Amino acid sequence: MFYLISIIGSGRVGASIAFLCVANALDDVLLLNRTKDKALGESMDIANAIPPTSKFSIRGTDDYSELSDSDIIVIAASRDNYTKDRTENIQSQVDMIKEIAEKIKQYCPSAIILVISNPPDVLTYFFQKGSGFSRFKVMGIASSLDSSRFRYFISEKLFVPQSSISNALVLGEHGDSMVPIFSNASVNGTNLNSLIDDTVRESMINNIRGYWKQLRNYKSRSQFGIAKNTYDVIHAIINAKELSVPASIVLEGEYGENNVSMGIPVKINQNGVSEIQKIDLDGSEKLMLKESSKKIRDDINSV
Ligand SMILES: NC(=O)c1ccc[n+]([C@@H]2O[C@H](COP(=O)([O-])OP(=O)(O)OC[C@H]3O[C@@H](n4cnc5c(N)ncnc54)[C@H](OP(=O)(O)O)[C@@H]3O)[C@@H](O)[C@H]2O)c1
Repeated sequence: MFYLISIIGSGRVGASIAFLCVANALDDVLLLNRTKDKALGESMDIANAIPPTSKFSIRGTDDYSELSDSDIIVIAASRDNYTKDRTENIQSQVDMIKEIAEKIKQYCPSAIILVISNPPDVLTYFFQKGSGFSRFKVMGIASSLDSSRFRYFISEKLFVPQSSISNALVLGEHGDSMVPIFSNASVNGTNLNSLIDDTVRESMINNIRGYWKQLRNYKSRSQFGIAKNTYDVIHAIINAKELSVPASIVLEGEYGENNVSMGIPVKINQNGVSEIQKIDLDGSEKLMLKESSKKIRDDINSV
């Protein structure tokens, strides 16, 4: 079966995701951008990365009706860039996602939706509510990126390869209240908590939360980490391979939460989210996750 992967927003992130899909001959890609020239330019450039053995191609457009055959739609569009906080442009991003939800509802009501644009938890919530799509087909992708950052810091601090680290998950908001879960993580089978002290734990939490600010000391914005994490989800959907990752979905009682979308561990397959996974958290993690869901809910209610 052939799929069409459509990516709305061909900026840094959208183009990087498109590049990975095309270079790995995953499937056909459509880049849709507000300014058509950018979609055309990026797709012309990325087209030269199509492997000679690939059956697939890429094209650019600004016409939403061309989304009609899409099986997977990635939303990486952004009207403005934030400088201090991911929720800085919340009103204009929510207005944007509502408009995009209307278009997607009109042209491809069966697609699986991956929301990348910031703030992803809030936008996932508004997309799902606005479109009426099954909550299992609308995912915010960000906690897997935050988890990559968690693995990176564990690896650097303990001088171990990332391949020796298991279950290092970051849950909750893709924002300052995100919650790295130490109690479940292990290195070569040994619980992470027994390998570090409170000072290291606190500094890791701060480093993961502040990663994007550190990165911006050196380049304008991140793109490759989120691109690879999104590519992995698309790959799992297209190849019907089960993938366990944290992602943001609208919760109906899971983890004690309602009327909010936040990063929790899920299984993904060809149909979208196939299972919400329940993991044990310690007392302080439960408390931090509660604070994180409150932060997202407050943001939702502020719009
Ligand atoms: N989830 C995560 O972990 C994560 C990680 C990194 C970034 N992000 C977020 O991902 C988003 C994209 O980042 P970026 O660095 O790629 O931004 P960018 O380079 O500014 O690209 C955004 C693109 O969206 C386009 N756009 C705006 N409104 C649109 C609409 N209604 N329909 C179609 N295209 C539209 C813009 O078009 P124009 O050419 O007309 O301006 C621009 O090309 C941002 O919200 C960013 O904060 C999330």
